[in-house]
Amino acid sequence: MARQDTLWERFLSPVIRLFIDEEELRRYSKSIDWQKESDRFRRTDVTIPSYYSSQNFHGIEGGYLTTGAAVSYDPITQYVLPPNETMVRQALIDSIQVKPRRILDLGCGTGSTTLMLKQAFPQAQVIGLDLSPYMLVRAEDKAKTANLDIQWHHGDAEKTGFPDQSFDLVTASLLFHETPPAVSEAILRESFRLLTTGGEVLILDGNQKTLRHLEFLNNLFEEPYIRDYAAGSVDAWMGKAGFEAVQTQDFWLIQQVSRGVKPIKEGLGVRDQGLGEAFFDESWVPAPSY
Ligand SMILES: C[S@@+](CC[C@H](N)C(=O)[O-])C[C@H]1O[C@@H](n2cnc3c(N)ncnc32)[C@H](O)[C@@H]1O
Repeated sequence: MARQDTLWERFLSPVIRLFIDEEELRRYSKSIDWQKESDRFRRTDVTIPSYYSSQNFHGIEGGYLTTGAAVSYDPITQYVLPPNETMVRQALIDSIQVKPRRILDLGCGTGSTTLMLKQAFPQAQVIGLDLSPYMLVRAEDKAKTANLDIQWHHGDAEKTGFPDQSFDLVTASLLFHETPPAVSEAILRESFRLLTTGGEVLILDGNQKTLRHLEFLNNLFEEPYIRDYAAGSVDAWMGKAGFEAVQTQDFWLIQQVSRGVKPIKEGLGVRDQGLGEAFFDESWVPAPSY
């Protein structure tokens, strides 16, 4: 059951509901054969971690492994990212300093940031990865509507299964406040492994300094791990994972974008750093899902 004592349940959820066309959402949901569509993504080798399956997020029973989450995520999110959802996501895009050829968006959800990444870098191969096949169904639907060629991959950001050095940009938006810090650190270690040298990791999420001072916000959205997230430091986690030039920029005090670079090892040639032709070997890339 969703907790009834959070500000979300008592106040925000009823208010936001006023602005959401629930009938339209029901119609959309009914128009999709969720079992069939989610089965196209579901991989049997993906194990769902217990921190994920044991919690409700945003008061949705069953969390992200439900069709309800996939359908309601976007209509709710547009109202909870001040000053404006697109501006917040654009802050991540604006922080990118590489010219990426392969981009991996971890915990992509319904793909809102993933779509913007593809729009910003139309030549790049873009993959969105998420643990919830239902979120991927919604993401794929949005990409098709926008006529964007993005690959959607069912997987765990802690252990993606992609080869070493196969991306030059790895991103995650609004993921870390929903994972225990040990998992966020594991995701950063995996991102480091996946990146070519000189490649970038970018993490967009709630502002840790601000969240520490606004206790009520931690109780707002029924987020089981947000207090631990606020107490930690993405900068420090990135440093521990091996990233250099680590920097966090505040965005409207409520959000932050953290950036780290996988350092170039001195004394190694370009090929040995993962920037040679091996990088362009397409053989491992999962087949497009449509
Ligand atoms: C708050 S949503 C953010 C979605 C999207 N990135 C955005 O900006 O709107 C968090 C997403 O992370 C996914 N997630 C959580 N833990 C994950 C993990 N270990 N691996 C992959 N996805 C994960 C959830 O399924 C959910 O779709």
